[in-house]
Amino acid sequence: MSDGLEASRRRARRNVVLTAAIAGLGGLLFGYDTGVIAGALLFIKGDFDLGSFAQGLVVAAVPIGAVAGAGFAGPAADRYGRRLMILLAAAVFIVGALASAAAPGVEVLVAARIVIGVAIGLASAAAPVYISEMAPPESRGRLVSFFQLAVTIGILVAYLVGLAFDHTEGWRWMLGLGCVPALALGFGMLRMPQSPRWLVMSGDDFAARATLAKIRVDDPDTIDRELEEIKDSLDEKPGAWSELLQPVVKAALVVGVGLAILQQVTGINTVIYYAPTIVEFTGVDSSAGSILAAVGVGVINVGMTLLALRLLDRAGRRTLLFIGVSGMSISLFALGAAFKVSGGDSTIASVIAIVSLMAYVASFAVSLGPIFWLLNAEIYPLSVRSKAAGVGTMANWTFNFIVSLTFLLLIEALGRSGAFWFYGVIGLFTLAFCWKLVPETKGKRLEDIEAIFQARVDGQAPAPPST
Ligand code: BGC
Repeated sequence: MSDGLEASRRRARRNVVLTAAIAGLGGLLFGYDTGVIAGALLFIKGDFDLGSFAQGLVVAAVPIGAVAGAGFAGPAADRYGRRLMILLAAAVFIVGALASAAAPGVEVLVAARIVIGVAIGLASAAAPVYISEMAPPESRGRLVSFFQLAVTIGILVAYLVGLAFDHTEGWRWMLGLGCVPALALGFGMLRMPQSPRWLVMSGDDFAARATLAKIRVDDPDTIDRELEEIKDSLDEKPGAWSELLQPVVKAALVVGVGLAILQQVTGINTVIYYAPTIVEFTGVDSSAGSILAAVGVGVINVGMTLLALRLLDRAGRRTLLFIGVSGMSISLFALGAAFKVSGGDSTIASVIAIVSLMAYVASFAVSLGPIFWLLNAEIYPLSVRSKAAGVGTMANWTFNFIVSLTFLLLIEALGRSGAFWFYGVIGLFTLAFCWKLVPETKGKRLEDIEAIFQARVDGQAPAPPST
């Protein structure tokens, strides 16, 4: 290969990684807020004298706002572009974070947290789609998963911020500091280009070509080929909502919405939100133990997501799903068994419970964590991509809300062992779902992924095709 071409390849790779890293910061907003509220709530509760219902409202306000934000982002990202939605998310988040930090009472706090939720919904619907449309097929898995990596980093940073302000009861600082990642996202996105696929969809081939020249090898033939492929995949302008009912889109939505729901109903946020409580169940009763558990969960989550980034485009999405979801189920059964055997009283059972908890988070982080967001951004046809991704995102947030709300009730109804076994059984169902329905998209061009679902609708491919 000539030096010029090699230099152009390096520059393109740098630009596309930078774009994915900046847009991926959208995940930080999501992770930071997820991780910060549990710690902050302990003090808010005292300051505002909140009962359980009011506390529930403060927490639930975010997922409720996120469902609305994702619903709005779907069609709006077709009309105004993915980039603008991410910019809007950053601005709205800053308003919400400042308002929640300054809230004089619980009413303003709940309203501000709905605003924060809207921002998170916007970012989680638009950022993965934007990255998937910028990335070349061979590294799309890794690049889109920057979003999930940022989610996990956000959760870990929030745990650490919670620790730092713990002794001063500084909940206003904890919430207000959310502005920092939002500012980084906003300023970063101002310098990023529009998605070339959205530009083609809005009829601006000239600008699409200019963007492709920055993020691909600058060779007119390569760029022409990609432009043609995008145009071929787009027989019309952005589709109406009713297009979501086309058989090929429905087939993809079954996978996207299915994974959205399964990612939540296998219980990940019971651990993310309640890790210290679960550790207490195991018989560890010092606050240092609970804090360590939370930080340990955060570190494992980040570390294993980094590993997933390395593997997604090599091992493929399906292989990681099988390994990870099997690991999640086994860990959940072991966790339930540990509670059953000892009722939490024996040291061995405590150790088994804590190891299972960590193994569960590790297994999620290499599989359902990044892969849901990745597939939700890559499996829909371009004309309906952002609307359909918005629907998947809304489903994810709706079930995030339902599971968080029902976890403690489930424990009351089924006992500790029963509750984790219940999630374990859903894990087995998830395994079967992935086996039957999730296609391998590793290395495929976005334009070719539609063909997989088309073949499925035409009855040509009963089993999911692999690469
Ligand atoms: C999920 C979140 C979860 C996080 C944990 C994300 O993929 O959507 O609900 O809190 O992973 O890392």
